Order: sequence, then C-alpha cells, then structure tokens
Amino acid sequence: MLVVAGLVFLGAVAMLALGWLRRDKPGLPWLGESERANTTLVVAFGIAIPIVILVALFVVSDLVLMKETDAPRAGETAMGMTVVGHQWWWEVRYGDSDAVTANEIHIPARTPIDLVARSADVIHSFWVPELNRKIDMIPGQANSIELYADEPGVYRGQCAEFCGLQHAHMAFRVYAEPPARFREWLANMERPAREPASAEARRGRRLFMENACASCHTIAGTEARGSIGPDLTHVASRQTLAADTIENTPRNLFRWIRNPQSIKPGDKMPGLGLGAARFQAIAAYLSELR
Ligand code: CUA
Repeated sequence: MLVVAGLVFLGAVAMLALGWLRRDKPGLPWLGESERANTTLVVAFGIAIPIVILVALFVVSDLVLMKETDAPRAGETAMGMTVVGHQWWWEVRYGDSDAVTANEIHIPARTPIDLVARSADVIHSFWVPELNRKIDMIPGQANSIELYADEPGVYRGQCAEFCGLQHAHMAFRVYAEPPARFREWLANMERPAREPASAEARRGRRLFMENACASCHTIAGTEARGSIGPDLTHVASRQTLAADTIENTPRNLFRWIRNPQSIKPGDKMPGLGLGAARFQAIAAYLSELR
C-alpha cells in the first residue's frame, strides 16, 4: 500500500511540476489544448486510474491479506477463549474451563486460539499489536479473531477504542507459555481460592465479605459472588493491578484498595473509608490468593 500510494503521490507531484513549468503554454504537449484533451485528462486521472488502483488495493488487502488474520473457522483451532471488555478492565474465560481471570491472558505458544470478543457496557477494542490486528468489542455482538504467538513471551495489549475516562488505563498482558506450563497454570486457576493462612488474612477475609467488596467481586469458594469488578480468586498471581496500571506489589495493593480513585479516577471501585488497619488486613487476605 505504501509503494502504491507513493507512486500515486509522485505522479501527482510530477503533474503539478509540469503544470508549473509550462504555466505560459496551455494544454499538455502530447494532447494539445482542445476541449476533448481536457476531458480525456479528467476521465483518465480523475476516474479511470483511481478506480483501477482502489479496486486492486481492495482485492489484495481485503480478499487476500485479511484472510490470514481472520478468525479461524470452527474446528481449526486448538482452543477457544472469551474476553469481555468492561469499563475499564478485561474479563477472560478459557474454553469450557471454569477459570475466570482478569487483565492477564495466558495462552499456549504456537497454538491458534479462537478469541471471541464481547462487551459488557460500551464499545471497546481488543488489540495486541504483536499478535494480530484489532477487533471491536460491541455490546450485544460477538466478534472473533485468531490469537497466535510464535514464541513464548509477554505481549502488551491495549483497548483501542475510546471508552470513557480511563480508556488509556485499560491495558492488559498476554503471557504466551509452553503448552505444558499453560495447562499447569489453567489447572491452578480452576481451583477455588485457598484458605487464609494467617490471623490477619482471616480478618481480611471477614472484612471483605462484610463490606461492599463482596457484592462487586467474585472469589470462588466463598460467598463473594459479585460481577461488577474482576474475579479475585487468584488475584495475587497477577503481575499488575487495575488493568496493567500499577505493579501488583503489597504496597500498591494496599494503596489501590484504600483509595482507588487516586490511581484511576472515575473507576467504578469506590474508596470505602474503612481505615488503614482494615485495608491492611484485606490486602493481607488478597495477597494470599495465588
Ligand atoms: Cu475500553 Cu477504551
């Protein structure tokens, strides 16, 4: 496309230069200055040539190149996956597995994945530049695209459709792993949350369940069954918080739950004003959820 557009641009510049050089002599040297010559010029450069070029580019890009990045046909991929866009985070479900995660997508490397993109609220766009083109997430509609990583590694993704105040903080990471490691990871994600080990964490769990936390988040194996915010069953196993906004360290986790609006203004998570000691206990509980 760049080469074709470059040639068209050079052609236009050449015609412009020719017009300027011959500004005192009407008409083109090889056509003369008749009315008919002018019509020929307009039809050729204004209609015929653009039609040929645009149709050729359409055929090459849409019918040939787009096929290679399209969603795979049923039965052609090893695995299905659903990603749901929320303001402003990503919900991830894996095939027929019960695992639900958020903001960090694990995939087996060198395995074609059929990714279905949905939205829970407004239009988002799922984009991992290194792995494929964008796919829009439209409310009430399921779009799909293939996700394929040649090599194990970490690939950054980003919401690519303006979706509100924290659109820029709606990022995620794709971890492509050797298939055996991926299966191990998925098996862990399918397990319910582990029991809190310390007294502080047990207190944290009680506070989590008693306060508004539990009505917005799910922690499998407990009474927390909310679906407004991300599933937290294995939140401590994630590298980042708030959709790739901050690193998931104990200090950041505490800061985030204590005053979410200072890190992500406009986010649906309210600051509950429970006091530092209580937030400390909740953070202790959450950081045991590996
Ligand atoms: Cu979601 Cu922009």
